Amino acid sequence: MAKKTPTKFSFFSPLYSLLTITMTLSQIHSLTHENDIHSLQEIVHGIDPNSISPSSYINSWDFTVDPCHSTGSQFLGILCDLPLDNSSSRVTAIDLDGIGYEGFLTPVIGNLTELTILNLNNNKFRGPIPETIGNLRKLTRLTFSDNFFTGGIPQEIIELKRLEYLDLSANRLSGTIPSNMTGLRSLTYLSLSNNNFSGRVQNLTGLWNLNTLDISYNQFFGNLPNLPVSLRNIYLSHNIFSGDITPLKDLIHVRWLDISDNRLSGVIRRDILSLRFVSHLNVSYNRFTSINVVNGQGQGQRLRLLEAQANNLKGHLPVNLVTFTNLTIINLSNNQLHGPIPKEYGLKLRTTWRRLYLDHNFLTGNLPLELTHKSTNFKGSFANNCLNCPTNVGVCRGGQRPATECTGQHNL
Ligand SMILES: *[C@@H]1O[C@H](CO)[C@@H](O)[C@H](O)[C@H]1NC(C)=O
Ligand SMILES: *[C@@H]1O[C@H](CO)[C@@H](O)[C@H](O)[C@H]1NC(C)=O
Ligand SMILES: *[C@@H]1O[C@H](CO)[C@@H](O)[C@H](O)[C@H]1NC(C)=O
Ligand SMILES: *[C@@H]1O[C@H](CO)[C@@H](O)[C@H](O)[C@H]1NC(C)=O
Ligand SMILES: *[C@@H]1O[C@H](CO)[C@@H](O)[C@H](O)[C@H]1NC(C)=O
Ligand SMILES: *[C@@H]1O[C@H](CO)[C@@H](O)[C@H](O)[C@H]1NC(C)=O
Ligand SMILES: *[C@@H]1O[C@H](CO)[C@@H](O)[C@H](O)[C@H]1NC(C)=O
Ligand SMILES: *[C@@H]1O[C@H](CO)[C@@H](O)[C@H](O)[C@H]1NC(C)=O
Repeated sequence: MAKKTPTKFSFFSPLYSLLTITMTLSQIHSLTHENDIHSLQEIVHGIDPNSISPSSYINSWDFTVDPCHSTGSQFLGILCDLPLDNSSSRVTAIDLDGIGYEGFLTPVIGNLTELTILNLNNNKFRGPIPETIGNLRKLTRLTFSDNFFTGGIPQEIIELKRLEYLDLSANRLSGTIPSNMTGLRSLTYLSLSNNNFSGRVQNLTGLWNLNTLDISYNQFFGNLPNLPVSLRNIYLSHNIFSGDITPLKDLIHVRWLDISDNRLSGVIRRDILSLRFVSHLNVSYNRFTSINVVNGQGQGQRLRLLEAQANNLKGHLPVNLVTFTNLTIINLSNNQLHGPIPKEYGLKLRTTWRRLYLDHNFLTGNLPLELTHKSTNFKGSFANNCLNCPTNVGVCRGGQRPATECTGQHNL
């Protein structure tokens, strides 16, 4: 996509020569649609000339030649549709190089009505996203990631019914998710992460083709939203979501679920842990008070990573974790778990478990015997509990809680 390539036929085809001759004879200036040329010029005018380096794509935009009928080293980063009749060519893609262009995106962008792809990633565009973006009805891919855009998502975005991929991550955008965003039925990928969005997230069930949703690192609050079952990857971390985990229980296709660093509470339900395809579950840094692990046999077999550290988990360590055959990394540190380490954990520690962090709890009793053997692959920590943990064993490094903090723990 980096280079400008005609989509319909090659420069060397007889048809092209014929067309060139015909065009040269009749309408010398109208090879590329006038509006499109004007829009491209306005895009360049919006960019600070000092940020256009000699080797950049924009520097190859030489308006003394026709954009869609220039050589392969001119007008880098655009694609055109070259019609076979003598109507004018249209720009169908702008795929800029991410080299730190500084400036504003012109509202005239909205005149490039045949655009299907607009990529401005990794630059320094600032100011608002123009509302005229809503005129680009044929867009399938819109990626503005890693810029300095401010303001909200324009309401007009909901006009982009063909949009499949929308990435506005890592900007300085704020406001809420526009209420009719669920009208974007073609969306498969949506990332708004690393911005300053806030507000409640409405019911997004209507985005029924959505595969990946990333709204992490914002200020969204309220209950977790209702989400489409099509989702495979969900990133909701680093927001202010509260309430319980229930809205996620029917997401049967989810593989990667990260809801860490919010204010979620209640039970880490067994139906979340045993979602059929989930392999990574990160519920850490919340306010969950218990974890309900039932026998994973038959379900939840793909779970490989469970991060539930830094919650308020009470009760005993869940014995049934050993029934999740693919589980290798477990972090339950910084909770209020008490009681003994289940003897069933011993075998797992010698075989499939690679990481087990149980530090900063109130566990009591002895280490599993298996841990006193030298183990190569295993890492973890059992420090800061109320265990009999010989300091020459690696996982005991850091010591245990003082006796005063452990008073009464042995009887629970
Ligand atoms: C080409 O364009 C001219 C003027 O725009 C028009 O008169 C003519 O009919 C067109 N020819 C074809 C083959 O479309
Ligand atoms: C292009 O867009 C601008 C701003 O959106 C609009 O005012 C203007 O009429 C358009 N120009 C053409 C030639 O379509
Ligand atoms: C959003 O949808 C409502 C009805 O569902 C409609 O009245 C409103 O005009 C839409 N907003 C936009 C910006 O299209
Ligand atoms: C984020 O938005 C909030 C209001 O919702 C505002 O108070 C805060 O200053 C903004 N932060 C940044 C870094 O823009
Ligand atoms: C969410 O929206 C879908 C349709 O888009 C609707 O069927 C469903 O009832 C809504 N759920 C809730 C809890 O409002
Ligand atoms: C889980 O979430 C915590 C807190 O947000 C983060 O530090 C950690 O890297 C996450 N783990 C993975 C595997 O993404
Ligand atoms: C467990 O992991 C392996 C290796 O990644 C994978 O091939 C297998 O399908 C997983 N088991 C289940 C039941 O998903
Ligand atoms: C486990 O969680 C603790 C915080 O409680 C964190 O410091 C540690 O890095 C985590 N370990 C792994 C392997 O994720």
